[in-house]
Amino acid sequence: MRDIGFDGKVAIITGAGGGLGRSHALELARRGARVVVNDLGGSIDGTGASLGPAALVVDEIKALGGDAVANTDSVATPAGGAAIVQSAIDAFGRVDIVVNNAGILRDKAFHNMEPDLLEPVLDVHLKGAFYVTRAAWITMREQNYGRVVNTSSNSGLLGNFGQSNYGAAKMGLVGLTRVLAIEGAKFNIKVNAIAPIAFTRMTEGLMGDLGAKLKPELVTPIVAWLCHEDCPVTGEVYSAGGGVIARFFVGLTQGYVNPDLTVEDVRDHFEQIRDETGYVVPRNNSDELRKVFRQLG
Ligand code: NAI
Repeated sequence: MRDIGFDGKVAIITGAGGGLGRSHALELARRGARVVVNDLGGSIDGTGASLGPAALVVDEIKALGGDAVANTDSVATPAGGAAIVQSAIDAFGRVDIVVNNAGILRDKAFHNMEPDLLEPVLDVHLKGAFYVTRAAWITMREQNYGRVVNTSSNSGLLGNFGQSNYGAAKMGLVGLTRVLAIEGAKFNIKVNAIAPIAFTRMTEGLMGDLGAKLKPELVTPIVAWLCHEDCPVTGEVYSAGGGVIARFFVGLTQGYVNPDLTVEDVRDHFEQIRDETGYVVPRNNSDELRKVFRQLG
Protein backbone atom coordinates (compact mmCIF):
# COMPACT_ATOMS: atom_id res chain seq x y z
CA MET A 1 0.00 0.00 0.00
CA ARG A 2 1.17 3.52 -0.70
CA ASP A 3 2.32 5.80 2.10
CA ILE A 4 -0.10 8.30 3.55
CA GLY A 5 0.41 11.74 2.05
CA PHE A 6 -1.13 15.19 2.24
CA ASP A 7 -0.04 16.76 -1.05
CA GLY A 8 -2.27 19.68 -1.99
CA LYS A 9 -3.82 19.87 1.48
CA VAL A 10 -3.65 22.88 3.80
CA ALA A 11 -3.67 22.25 7.55
CA ILE A 12 -4.12 24.56 10.52
CA ILE A 13 -2.65 23.24 13.76
CA THR A 14 -3.43 25.38 16.79
CA GLY A 15 -1.01 25.52 19.70
CA ALA A 16 1.68 24.09 17.43
CA GLY A 17 4.64 25.99 18.89
CA GLY A 18 5.59 23.05 21.12
CA GLY A 19 4.51 19.70 22.54
CA LEU A 20 1.88 17.71 20.65
CA GLY A 21 0.95 20.46 18.20
CA ARG A 22 4.54 20.86 17.02
CA SER A 23 4.78 17.12 16.43
CA HIS A 24 1.51 17.11 14.43
CA ALA A 25 2.66 20.11 12.35
CA LEU A 26 6.04 18.57 11.53
CA GLU A 27 4.51 15.23 10.51
CA LEU A 28 1.80 16.70 8.29
CA ALA A 29 4.34 19.03 6.66
CA ARG A 30 6.81 16.16 6.18
CA ARG A 31 4.05 14.31 4.36
CA GLY A 32 3.29 17.20 2.03
CA ALA A 33 0.69 19.39 3.72
CA ARG A 34 1.14 23.15 3.77
CA VAL A 35 0.73 24.15 7.40
CA VAL A 36 -0.37 27.15 9.43
CA VAL A 37 1.56 26.85 12.68
CA ASN A 38 -0.58 28.76 15.16
CA ASP A 39 0.66 29.50 18.67
CA LEU A 40 0.06 32.39 21.00
CA GLY A 41 3.38 31.63 22.67
CA GLY A 42 2.21 32.09 26.27
CA SER A 43 2.87 30.14 29.45
CA ILE A 44 1.07 26.99 30.57
CA ASP A 45 -1.63 29.00 32.37
CA GLY A 46 -2.29 31.06 29.27
CA THR A 47 -0.63 34.28 30.40
CA GLY A 48 1.85 36.13 28.20
CA ALA A 49 2.49 35.83 24.49
CA SER A 50 5.46 35.49 22.17
CA LEU A 51 6.13 35.33 18.47
CA GLY A 52 8.92 32.79 19.03
CA PRO A 53 7.48 29.27 19.29
CA ALA A 54 5.33 29.36 16.12
CA ALA A 55 8.16 30.92 14.11
CA LEU A 56 10.67 28.32 15.33
CA VAL A 57 8.43 25.44 14.23
CA VAL A 58 7.98 27.09 10.83
CA ASP A 59 11.78 27.22 10.57
CA GLU A 60 11.97 23.51 11.43
CA ILE A 61 9.39 22.69 8.74
CA LYS A 62 11.24 24.75 6.15
CA ALA A 63 14.49 23.03 7.07
CA LEU A 64 12.78 19.72 6.23
CA GLY A 65 11.82 21.13 2.83
CA GLY A 66 8.20 21.75 3.86
CA ASP A 67 5.95 24.78 3.52
CA ALA A 68 4.47 26.60 6.51
CA VAL A 69 3.52 30.00 7.89
CA ALA A 70 3.40 31.16 11.49
CA ASN A 71 0.34 32.68 13.12
CA THR A 72 0.22 34.03 16.67
CA ASP A 73 -3.45 34.92 17.08
CA SER A 74 -5.29 33.54 20.07
CA VAL A 75 -7.86 30.82 19.39
CA ALA A 76 -9.89 32.15 22.32
CA THR A 77 -11.90 34.84 20.50
CA PRO A 78 -14.08 34.82 17.38
CA ALA A 79 -11.73 37.41 15.81
CA GLY A 80 -8.71 35.24 16.60
CA GLY A 81 -10.34 32.17 15.08
CA ALA A 82 -11.21 34.10 11.93
CA ALA A 83 -7.67 35.53 11.67
CA ILE A 84 -6.09 32.08 11.98
CA VAL A 85 -8.22 30.74 9.14
CA GLN A 86 -7.62 33.88 7.09
CA SER A 87 -3.87 33.34 7.38
CA ALA A 88 -4.34 29.90 5.74
CA ILE A 89 -6.40 31.43 2.94
CA ASP A 90 -3.91 34.29 2.46
CA ALA A 91 -0.86 32.05 2.38
CA PHE A 92 -2.21 28.94 0.67
CA GLY A 93 -5.65 29.78 -0.75
CA ARG A 94 -7.63 27.10 1.12
CA VAL A 95 -8.05 25.12 4.32
CA ASP A 96 -8.66 21.36 4.43
CA ILE A 97 -7.62 20.32 7.93
CA VAL A 98 -8.02 21.86 11.38
CA VAL A 99 -6.36 20.29 14.40
CA ASN A 100 -7.64 22.01 17.53
CA ASN A 101 -4.79 21.43 19.94
CA ALA A 102 -4.14 24.74 21.76
CA GLY A 103 -4.55 24.41 25.49
CA ILE A 104 -3.83 25.84 28.92
CA LEU A 105 -4.17 24.64 32.51
CA ARG A 106 -5.52 26.38 35.62
CA ASP A 107 -5.93 23.52 38.07
CA LYS A 108 -7.50 23.92 41.52
CA ALA A 109 -9.75 21.80 43.73
CA PHE A 110 -13.38 22.64 42.96
CA HIS A 111 -13.99 24.61 46.17
CA ASN A 112 -11.19 26.98 45.11
CA MET A 113 -12.20 27.10 41.44
CA GLU A 114 -13.13 30.77 41.06
CA PRO A 115 -14.64 32.00 37.78
CA ASP A 116 -11.31 33.54 36.73
CA LEU A 117 -9.94 29.99 36.56
CA LEU A 118 -12.96 28.68 34.66
CA GLU A 119 -13.40 31.27 31.93
CA PRO A 120 -9.93 31.22 30.30
CA VAL A 121 -9.88 27.42 30.23
CA LEU A 122 -13.29 27.21 28.54
CA ASP A 123 -12.24 30.05 26.22
CA VAL A 124 -9.09 28.34 24.93
CA HIS A 125 -10.14 24.68 24.78
CA LEU A 126 -13.85 24.63 24.06
CA LYS A 127 -14.65 28.02 22.57
CA GLY A 128 -11.27 28.12 20.82
CA ALA A 129 -12.08 24.92 18.92
CA PHE A 130 -15.53 26.33 18.17
CA TYR A 131 -14.17 29.64 16.82
CA VAL A 132 -11.39 28.21 14.66
CA THR A 133 -13.51 25.37 13.29
CA ARG A 134 -16.47 27.64 12.58
CA ALA A 135 -14.32 30.02 10.55
CA ALA A 136 -12.95 27.08 8.53
CA TRP A 137 -16.35 25.36 8.27
CA ILE A 138 -17.71 27.84 5.74
CA THR A 139 -14.86 27.04 3.34
CA MET A 140 -15.04 23.32 4.06
CA ARG A 141 -18.75 23.19 3.22
CA GLU A 142 -18.18 25.12 0.00
CA GLN A 143 -15.37 22.82 -1.12
CA ASN A 144 -17.21 19.72 0.08
CA TYR A 145 -14.20 18.54 2.04
CA GLY A 146 -12.80 18.92 5.52
CA ARG A 147 -11.09 17.08 8.34
CA VAL A 148 -11.19 18.31 11.95
CA VAL A 149 -9.46 16.74 14.95
CA ASN A 150 -10.27 18.03 18.42
CA THR A 151 -8.04 17.41 21.41
CA SER A 152 -10.05 16.07 24.32
CA SER A 153 -8.60 14.46 27.43
CA ASN A 154 -9.08 11.58 29.80
CA SER A 155 -9.47 14.31 32.45
CA GLY A 156 -12.89 14.97 30.92
CA LEU A 157 -13.78 11.48 29.70
CA LEU A 158 -12.83 9.86 33.00
CA GLY A 159 -12.40 12.77 35.43
CA ASN A 160 -9.34 14.02 37.30
CA PHE A 161 -8.95 15.76 40.65
CA GLY A 162 -8.46 19.52 40.42
CA GLN A 163 -9.54 19.83 36.81
CA SER A 164 -13.25 20.68 36.92
CA ASN A 165 -12.66 23.58 34.49
CA TYR A 166 -10.43 21.60 32.14
CA GLY A 167 -12.44 18.37 32.35
CA ALA A 168 -15.67 20.22 31.54
CA ALA A 169 -14.02 21.93 28.56
CA LYS A 170 -12.53 18.67 27.30
CA MET A 171 -15.83 16.77 27.57
CA GLY A 172 -17.49 19.73 25.87
CA LEU A 173 -15.19 19.04 22.95
CA VAL A 174 -16.60 15.53 22.70
CA GLY A 175 -20.09 16.98 22.35
CA LEU A 176 -18.83 19.45 19.74
CA THR A 177 -17.16 16.58 17.88
CA ARG A 178 -20.36 14.50 17.84
CA VAL A 179 -22.57 17.33 16.63
CA LEU A 180 -20.15 18.54 13.95
CA ALA A 181 -19.72 14.97 12.70
CA ILE A 182 -23.47 14.86 12.09
CA GLU A 183 -23.64 18.34 10.52
CA GLY A 184 -20.54 17.76 8.37
CA ALA A 185 -21.56 14.34 7.05
CA LYS A 186 -23.18 15.43 3.81
CA PHE A 187 -20.27 17.77 3.01
CA ASN A 188 -17.56 15.11 3.43
CA ILE A 189 -16.35 16.88 6.55
CA LYS A 190 -15.17 14.37 9.16
CA VAL A 191 -14.72 15.42 12.77
CA ASN A 192 -13.02 13.23 15.35
CA ALA A 193 -11.25 13.69 18.66
CA ILE A 194 -8.26 12.34 20.51
CA ALA A 195 -7.52 11.93 24.20
CA PRO A 196 -3.71 12.01 24.22
CA ILE A 197 -1.16 11.00 26.84
CA ALA A 198 2.24 12.57 26.23
CA PHE A 199 5.24 14.01 27.97
CA THR A 200 5.14 17.77 27.26
CA ARG A 201 5.65 20.91 29.29
CA MET A 202 1.99 20.51 30.38
CA THR A 203 2.59 17.10 31.98
CA GLU A 204 6.32 17.03 32.73
CA GLY A 205 5.82 17.18 36.51
CA LEU A 206 3.28 14.34 36.51
CA MET A 207 4.86 11.42 34.71
CA GLY A 208 8.15 10.56 36.39
CA ASP A 209 10.22 7.90 34.62
CA LEU A 210 7.30 6.91 32.39
CA GLY A 211 7.60 10.22 30.57
CA ALA A 212 10.35 8.89 28.29
CA LYS A 213 7.92 6.35 26.82
CA LEU A 214 5.24 8.93 26.12
CA LYS A 215 6.71 10.90 23.24
CA PRO A 216 4.34 13.35 21.50
CA GLU A 217 5.45 11.77 18.21
CA LEU A 218 3.56 8.62 19.23
CA VAL A 219 0.26 10.52 19.41
CA THR A 220 0.68 12.12 16.00
CA PRO A 221 0.01 9.03 13.80
CA ILE A 222 -3.65 8.76 14.87
CA VAL A 223 -4.06 12.52 14.37
CA ALA A 224 -2.59 12.28 10.87
CA TRP A 225 -4.83 9.34 9.99
CA LEU A 226 -7.95 11.16 11.24
CA CYS A 227 -6.85 14.16 9.10
CA HIS A 228 -6.37 12.09 5.97
CA GLU A 229 -8.81 11.91 3.07
CA ASP A 230 -9.07 8.11 3.52
CA CYS A 231 -10.11 8.45 7.19
CA PRO A 232 -13.05 6.04 7.50
CA VAL A 233 -14.73 7.41 10.64
CA THR A 234 -16.40 10.52 12.02
CA GLY A 235 -17.61 11.50 15.49
CA GLU A 236 -15.21 9.15 17.27
CA VAL A 237 -12.70 9.58 20.11
CA TYR A 238 -9.31 7.84 20.24
CA SER A 239 -7.01 7.36 23.21
CA ALA A 240 -3.34 7.68 22.23
CA GLY A 241 -0.21 7.41 24.34
CA GLY A 242 3.21 5.78 24.02
CA GLY A 243 2.17 3.96 20.86
CA VAL A 244 -1.02 2.48 22.35
CA ILE A 245 -4.06 3.50 20.33
CA ALA A 246 -7.59 2.61 21.38
CA ARG A 247 -11.13 3.89 20.97
CA PHE A 248 -13.23 5.49 23.68
CA PHE A 249 -16.95 5.15 23.13
CA VAL A 250 -20.25 5.91 24.80
CA GLY A 251 -22.00 2.67 25.66
CA LEU A 252 -25.62 2.19 26.68
CA THR A 253 -26.65 -0.76 28.84
CA GLN A 254 -29.63 -2.93 27.98
CA GLY A 255 -31.15 -1.64 31.20
CA TYR A 256 -34.49 -2.45 32.81
CA VAL A 257 -37.89 -2.03 31.19
CA ASN A 258 -41.14 -1.30 32.99
CA PRO A 259 -43.80 0.98 31.48
CA ASP A 260 -45.26 1.49 35.01
CA LEU A 261 -41.87 2.43 36.52
CA THR A 262 -41.72 3.63 40.14
CA VAL A 263 -38.84 4.79 42.33
CA GLU A 264 -38.94 1.44 44.13
CA ASP A 265 -38.54 -0.35 40.77
CA VAL A 266 -35.41 1.69 40.11
CA ARG A 267 -34.02 0.78 43.56
CA ASP A 268 -34.87 -2.90 43.19
CA HIS A 269 -33.40 -3.23 39.68
CA PHE A 270 -30.43 -0.92 39.99
CA GLU A 271 -27.85 -3.62 39.31
CA GLN A 272 -29.73 -4.66 36.16
CA ILE A 273 -29.86 -1.01 35.04
CA ARG A 274 -26.08 -0.78 35.49
CA ASP A 275 -25.23 -4.23 34.09
CA GLU A 276 -22.83 -3.88 31.15
CA THR A 277 -23.77 -7.25 29.58
CA GLY A 278 -24.99 -6.72 26.03
CA TYR A 279 -24.38 -2.95 26.01
CA VAL A 280 -24.79 -1.14 22.71
CA VAL A 281 -22.94 1.83 21.19
CA PRO A 282 -25.57 4.11 19.64
CA ARG A 283 -24.31 6.14 16.70
CA ASN A 284 -26.81 8.93 17.25
CA ASN A 285 -30.02 9.94 19.02
CA SER A 286 -32.17 7.95 16.61
CA ASP A 287 -30.29 4.75 17.44
CA GLU A 288 -31.06 5.28 21.13
CA LEU A 289 -34.72 6.08 20.44
CA ARG A 290 -35.08 2.98 18.28
CA LYS A 291 -33.70 0.88 21.14
CA VAL A 292 -36.18 2.43 23.60
CA PHE A 293 -39.16 1.73 21.33
CA ARG A 294 -37.92 -1.77 20.55
CA GLN A 295 -37.70 -2.53 24.28
CA LEU A 296 -41.16 -1.11 24.87
CA GLY A 297 -42.44 -3.67 22.35
P1 NAI B 1 1.73 22.47 25.46
O1 NAI B 1 1.57 23.46 26.56
O2 NAI B 1 3.09 22.14 25.00
O3 NAI B 1 0.89 22.90 24.17
C1 NAI B 1 -0.21 23.77 24.19
C2 NAI B 1 0.10 24.92 23.25
O4 NAI B 1 -1.08 25.73 23.10
C3 NAI B 1 1.21 25.83 23.77
O5 NAI B 1 2.26 25.92 22.82
C4 NAI B 1 0.51 27.16 23.98
O6 NAI B 1 1.33 28.31 23.72
C5 NAI B 1 -0.65 27.08 23.00
N1 NAI B 1 -1.75 27.96 23.36
C6 NAI B 1 -2.29 28.17 24.59
N2 NAI B 1 -3.27 29.06 24.53
C7 NAI B 1 -3.39 29.43 23.23
C8 NAI B 1 -4.27 30.31 22.54
N3 NAI B 1 -5.21 31.01 23.18
N4 NAI B 1 -4.13 30.44 21.20
C9 NAI B 1 -3.17 29.74 20.52
N5 NAI B 1 -2.30 28.90 21.14
C10 NAI B 1 -2.42 28.74 22.48
O7 NAI B 1 0.98 21.14 25.96
P2 NAI B 1 0.56 19.79 25.18
O8 NAI B 1 0.63 18.71 26.17
O9 NAI B 1 1.29 19.66 23.90
O10 NAI B 1 -1.00 20.04 24.91
C11 NAI B 1 -1.61 20.02 23.65
C12 NAI B 1 -3.07 19.68 23.81
O11 NAI B 1 -3.21 18.35 24.29
C13 NAI B 1 -3.80 20.55 24.82
O12 NAI B 1 -5.12 20.83 24.34
C14 NAI B 1 -3.87 19.67 26.04
O13 NAI B 1 -4.94 20.04 26.89
C15 NAI B 1 -4.07 18.33 25.41
N6 NAI B 1 -3.76 17.20 26.26
C16 NAI B 1 -2.46 16.90 26.55
C17 NAI B 1 -2.19 15.80 27.34
C18 NAI B 1 -0.79 15.37 27.60
O14 NAI B 1 -0.62 14.28 28.19
N7 NAI B 1 0.22 16.14 27.22
C19 NAI B 1 -3.25 15.00 27.94
C20 NAI B 1 -4.58 15.37 27.51
C21 NAI B 1 -4.80 16.45 26.71
